[in-house]
Amino acid sequence: MSCLLAPSILSFDLTNIRSAVETMTRAGAQIIHLDVMDGQFVPPITFGADYVSKLRSASSATFEAHLMTETPERHFEDFQRAGCERILFHIEATQHSHRLAQSLRAMGVSPGVAINPGTPAEAILPILDLVDLVLVMTVNPGWGGQQFIESALDKVSFLRKKRPDLLIEVDGGINPTTLETAKAAGANVFVVGNHLAKASDLEQGVRELVRQCG
Ligand code: DX5
Ligand code: ZN
Repeated sequence: MSCLLAPSILSFDLTNIRSAVETMTRAGAQIIHLDVMDGQFVPPITFGADYVSKLRSASSATFEAHLMTETPERHFEDFQRAGCERILFHIEATQHSHRLAQSLRAMGVSPGVAINPGTPAEAILPILDLVDLVLVMTVNPGWGGQQFIESALDKVSFLRKKRPDLLIEVDGGINPTTLETAKAAGANVFVVGNHLAKASDLEQGVRELVRQCG
């Protein structure tokens, strides 16, 4: 099973992120995870597609937009144009998850669905065969640097049994210890923000996590 590291830029200095993205790519990060917040689905506002398009040339890694927004489908085209190969929408943000997953696929974008800690795994079962990736939130979305919610891993094990080939990503509070726990539950994509933003040597921090990922 492939196992991938997806650094999130959220906890870095967003006015000066280019060299950090270059460093993390050089160190082997396979995905750059982009946390898009609209001030509605979650209280904070982060950045939009223009910001992402300016970063695109800094990395050859997969760009993944995690849309923490209402009406996520309004943003699909802009983030595709900005260079995102994968787009994740929240199951809680739409009544039309089936259509949204299909429309991403039709656009040539890899579809992913994200699920909050308070939402049962059953909510995504109807679209499980339509997505490439499920993002199981291990914190409540909105902020970096929160504490890992271990009970969310029940969803990871449940989904892993249903689809052995699925990319199952965990996001929130991931560090070398929680990465191991999440991996044992069946996760194979790991978003890491705060732990890397605090690293004294970013390149080495990424290399260690990539190695741990296996
Ligand atoms: C939270 C975001 C996460 C966050 C993870 O709403 O979706 O991607 O940046 O950050 P850490 O690793 O700091 O918990
Ligand atoms: Zn995220």
